[in-house]
Amino acid sequence: MTDTRQRSFEDNDQKPMGFGRMLRKEDPRFVRGRGRYTDDVQLPGMLHLAILRSPFAHARIVSVDTSAAAALPEVKAVITGADLAGLGLAWMPTLSGDVQAVLATDKVRFQGQEVAFVVATDRYAARDALELIDVEYDVLDPVIDVRQALAEGAPLIRDDLDGKTDNHCFDWETGDADATAAVFAKADVVVSQDLVYPRVHPAPMETCGSVADFDPVEGRLKLWSTTQAPHAHRTLYAMVAGIPEHKIQVISPDLGGGFGNKVPIYPGYVCSIVGSIVTGKPVKWMEDRSENLISTGFARDYIMRGEIAATRDGKILAIRTNVLADHGAFNGTAAPVKYPAGFFGVFTGSYDIEAAYCSMTAVYTNKAPGGVAYACSFRITEAVYLVERIVDCLAYELDMDPAALRLKNFIQPDQFPYMSKTGWEYDSGDYEPTMRLAMELAGYDELRKEQAEKRTRGELMGIGISFFTEAVGAGPRKHMDILGLGMADGCELRVHPTGKAVVRLSVQTQGQGHETTFAQIIAEEIGIAPADIDVVHGDTDNTPFGLGTYGSRSTPVSGAAAALVARKVRDKARLIASSMLEVSVADLEWEKGSFHVKGDPGTAVTIQDIAMRAHGAGDLPDGLEGGLEAQICYNPSNLTYPHGAYICVVDVDPGTAVVKVRRFIAVDDCGTRINPMIIEGQVHGGLTDGVGMALMEMISFDEDGNCLGASLMDYLIPTALEVPDWETGFTVTPSPHHPIGAKGVGESATVGSPPAIVNAVVDALKPYGVRHADMPLTPSRVWDAMRGTAQPP
Ligand code: CDP
Repeated sequence: MTDTRQRSFEDNDQKPMGFGRMLRKEDPRFVRGRGRYTDDVQLPGMLHLAILRSPFAHARIVSVDTSAAAALPEVKAVITGADLAGLGLAWMPTLSGDVQAVLATDKVRFQGQEVAFVVATDRYAARDALELIDVEYDVLDPVIDVRQALAEGAPLIRDDLDGKTDNHCFDWETGDADATAAVFAKADVVVSQDLVYPRVHPAPMETCGSVADFDPVEGRLKLWSTTQAPHAHRTLYAMVAGIPEHKIQVISPDLGGGFGNKVPIYPGYVCSIVGSIVTGKPVKWMEDRSENLISTGFARDYIMRGEIAATRDGKILAIRTNVLADHGAFNGTAAPVKYPAGFFGVFTGSYDIEAAYCSMTAVYTNKAPGGVAYACSFRITEAVYLVERIVDCLAYELDMDPAALRLKNFIQPDQFPYMSKTGWEYDSGDYEPTMRLAMELAGYDELRKEQAEKRTRGELMGIGISFFTEAVGAGPRKHMDILGLGMADGCELRVHPTGKAVVRLSVQTQGQGHETTFAQIIAEEIGIAPADIDVVHGDTDNTPFGLGTYGSRSTPVSGAAAALVARKVRDKARLIASSMLEVSVADLEWEKGSFHVKGDPGTAVTIQDIAMRAHGAGDLPDGLEGGLEAQICYNPSNLTYPHGAYICVVDVDPGTAVVKVRRFIAVDDCGTRINPMIIEGQVHGGLTDGVGMALMEMISFDEDGNCLGASLMDYLIPTALEVPDWETGFTVTPSPHHPIGAKGVGESATVGSPPAIVNAVVDALKPYGVRHADMPLTPSRVWDAMRGTAQPP
């Protein structure tokens, strides 16, 4: 692995007083098997819940007979949709303003939908009892394809919605249709391409689950659950269940990955709460792998037509797209309210163009709900795929090198802040050095020579480029809210008398190393060693309110909150130091961890001395309260816009059409880097995800709506065997509005890598005249592309 342009702090030892490489504080817990996940929670008298799911994609429920199940001695409760309807709990709001059935009452709308649940003394008895529930279904025609869903006379899926007569979910547009049409009309070259981003699943290692413990005497609910957004979930539970918010504690313990899968509120969580209220006991629900794959939030599922207009010499003028978005049976996305298509609006990418336009139609189908931001900032993955694929199609038509085409069209450094043609203000960027570094690390010119030589021998080698700009850190609260909850984040910092500290965050790690990096941010600002700073998160009773972790928003929003709360503490420390050293505040100088008198470094007090004085005997400056702590709620002024240049090298076996990713070079720019080791880990994981999406993963359905990706035997996810040794590098373009200049990075690689891989495979197939092939590029799809027998999307 190659890493260049290391800043000096990155050469520090493993215990930097601030930013730099540092082993993860949480790892001693994890490597010893001492992580505590939701399924590890054991409470006295705890019962177990299992969910009966629909075998059909679309069917009316005629009757549900639970008597045989309820008669089993181990069974403590059997609950149906009708029972929930009696409590007013059969439907719940989704985080995108739709409603979703907790348990089906009228009909089932996707295979795997929740129909009833059993609470029993152990999880095996609960599962066995499901077999005894007799449901009579009246099977209806399923609607699986989005175009079929829009066709005249298509069966109506959402007849639960008043006045609904078709399967439209929403329409959305951005950009300027007329201006874009005018630019297209004058262009020398117009290229259009149909593209499919298939339905994939985040598939975290830990599936979803919860343990609900309702105390009927106090009226208090304690809920351990696999959630990426404990505070937002608590507010929703309060609104739906009518339990006062201050009596609900949501604990999100260690999470075995989230990737967007653990943002929505799932019926299972609500069922466990109902189960506990009904039985008066704690109730655990933990789904199995197939349940996770068939019923929890899927991602993508966009059919896109991309169009690009350019001059003959390769100046990109405009980009236009039309999207059919499959949202499944309920709109279960969790995107800011004003952004029903998430941040797809950044589909103009990293290029300075004259005009852009997107129109989108979102549709209900008889498939699981979702459209979650799987390791991306609300549909940015789809946007980046569209633009980076269509730019390559243009390069193909112009017979131009794809790197040269990109370099010719980048937004220039002096254009930042850059207002895109769809209204996104890119905060900072310097694209060419990033691209050039990737090309240098890859040995781009040499690779092209090698490719040319191999082509003469009939060998299929491909080189694919993707250059992406993301918009991460949702978001300014005036623009962004989820169900009315503004997307700001709280942070509290308390320094104890002995100079150790605890920082409480509203974001929640799912494995990204927050316990380390947030301690590093505080350390950087107030000079207390990361080892002496505890990071508390994932517990609504013990952390300030905030909207949680997804869309790489932790560093842009909560990271800023952490830096600013530390500065508040430092400001107070400065006042105390001035009284301790008997000099004016203006005569003090801060050196990480201590204040000294200007020009006299020997006359100093450390942050630990100050902490003791703040809590101890002796006078404090007039009007200053004791203690050394602060809190903040940070409302970002803008998103941050990280970028990156990825180059992928593949070999395709002409006899079997098997794709091998031989090399992958990833140069990321996420502004100031807090912990380069953690960043590399995030990039490695995201690139591996990218290989999965580009080459292996797809949730598909047969014509009856049976999900064909319901186990990891069918839904293939990549392992170390399918991926190369990642080669990483970086550039640093700080965010001008973030207090430490950091941008998010957690999802950059998942976003940026699929187009690089697809571009590489298509490039390998150039001798066959292939301009495009749809993901996942399995051997059979590559074979079809080579033979010209691929089916249109
Ligand atoms: O929201 P999420 O944690 O998934 O994404 P992120 O904010 O991009 O951060 C992912 C991890 O990378 C965290 O541990 C961050 O602190 C770390 N990171 C970093 O060290 N430097 C950056 N500029 C950005 C993130």
